[in-house]
Amino acid sequence: MKVAFLTSECFPYVKTGGLGDVAGALPKALYQSGCEVKVFLPLYGGIKVQDHGIKRIDEFSNISVHLAGKDLNFSVFHTTLPGAEVEVYFIDCPYYYHRNLPYTNDSDEDERFLLFQNASLMTLQRLKWAPDVIHCNDWQTGLIPVYLKTNYAWDRLFGESRSLLSIHNIGYQGRFPESTVAKSGLDRNLYLNAGPLEFHSTFSFLKSGIMYADKISTVSPTYAREIQTEEYGAGMDGVLRSRSNDLIGILNGIDIDLWNPAKDKFIKSQYTAETLEMKEENKKNLLERVNIEYAENQPVLGIVSRLAGQKGINLLQPIINHIMSLPVRFVVLGSGEEQYEQFLSAAESSFEGRFCAYLGYNNELSHLITAGADIFLMPSRYEPCGLNQMYSLRYGTVPVVRKTGGLADTVMDYHEYYEKGNGFSFNEYSSAALLSTIQRAVDIYYQKDIWSGIQRRGMLEDFSWKKSAEKYLDVYKSLM
Ligand code: ADP
Ligand code: GLC
Repeated sequence: MKVAFLTSECFPYVKTGGLGDVAGALPKALYQSGCEVKVFLPLYGGIKVQDHGIKRIDEFSNISVHLAGKDLNFSVFHTTLPGAEVEVYFIDCPYYYHRNLPYTNDSDEDERFLLFQNASLMTLQRLKWAPDVIHCNDWQTGLIPVYLKTNYAWDRLFGESRSLLSIHNIGYQGRFPESTVAKSGLDRNLYLNAGPLEFHSTFSFLKSGIMYADKISTVSPTYAREIQTEEYGAGMDGVLRSRSNDLIGILNGIDIDLWNPAKDKFIKSQYTAETLEMKEENKKNLLERVNIEYAENQPVLGIVSRLAGQKGINLLQPIINHIMSLPVRFVVLGSGEEQYEQFLSAAESSFEGRFCAYLGYNNELSHLITAGADIFLMPSRYEPCGLNQMYSLRYGTVPVVRKTGGLADTVMDYHEYYEKGNGFSFNEYSSAALLSTIQRAVDIYYQKDIWSGIQRRGMLEDFSWKKSAEKYLDVYKSLM
């Protein structure tokens, strides 16, 4: 099975969130299941070309393409993914990709990903490599299914190629003005008269992909159901319902080599479910690192998150005094929207020495928090899958989550009457529900036997990609 995997981020080269983790791990798992996989992503200016042994392919230099009324050039760079024979191709076009961040609000954001998609297909043509499946991810690759059935349909190379579009977040829809249709080179009639490219008077790359992809997937079974409802569909629920038969939810896995408390190079003391007492050393080390005084028998709450509306940070605001009146420490790592950054900085000043807000992106610190915290919070308003709760479970750090999307599929509420459950969850999206769940977790933290049972159940679960990769493989086969 030949799979071209198109993505706008991929760990270890570039990552802003979970898509980066997925794109770094799923292709490896597919390779281990016998697939031949080639990954395509843009060569952003921030990617450390030398560190990753990324080299220009001489024959694929300065390829011209006419797009968005411009005569452009791109080159193709190449490396292989660490730990697997997965080829990674980078589309190099400094004019579009040498910017501060992978995603921008610049007026040519549409062009940046139009170029990426066309250049990826053109590279496949030059490689003369016919994929059985082109696996697309999110709006940045949403037009590939359209191109395959229109502008590139003449090319017999793609005659047997089928497309799968994975939706990692229905909130990001790649919506542009009608003028983008001309830039894309697609037939304007596909937009006019409420055509498949049109979505509430905009050209949405995501909606286009949903209409044209041979199959659609999203990153958890619960989210697959949720996005077909008005409450969670972000306006796309009707479109998704129209393709209900072709939509499947497959839970993400985690990279069990990168996220392994027994081998993690970032943390002070490696540990397993049998040596859980070592976790305390990591807690001390974390607190030292963020200038918080260690206190025996006081649980540490942790958050690692993009600070976006989706993540439920605003639920903390009305109850932060109450939370900090409990015997706890609190460490937050995140970056994003100004309002949340301000709130977190203010909390750090108010609760000096007990609350740390590290505003920024820091991979090492994310590992220290995952290992060193006792309780990990994810009060998301919605969460397509969520990876941090799975990382936390693997590290014996007990998650407190809102029961939505992938959180509902991975965190089972602890119940006093049955010795079951790997964490704590609540239904209602409210500060009161979050507070009472944190309180419940803190209470149980002091009942050491029960607590270590909850920790162990989480640590012993299998969140590896193997199972999920097999499910993707089944979907690919169903397309043949
Ligand atoms: P999302 O993709 O919505 O951001 P996920 O839980 O799927 O949520 O994945 C988030 C990923 O990004 C995790 O690997 C998490 O550790 C990482 N991450 C988020 N914010 C930061 C940050 N400020 N510093 C380091 N890693 C971060
Ligand atoms: C998105 C979602 C997150 C998911 C990730 C990877 O960014 O917000 O829930 O885990 O994609 O699929």
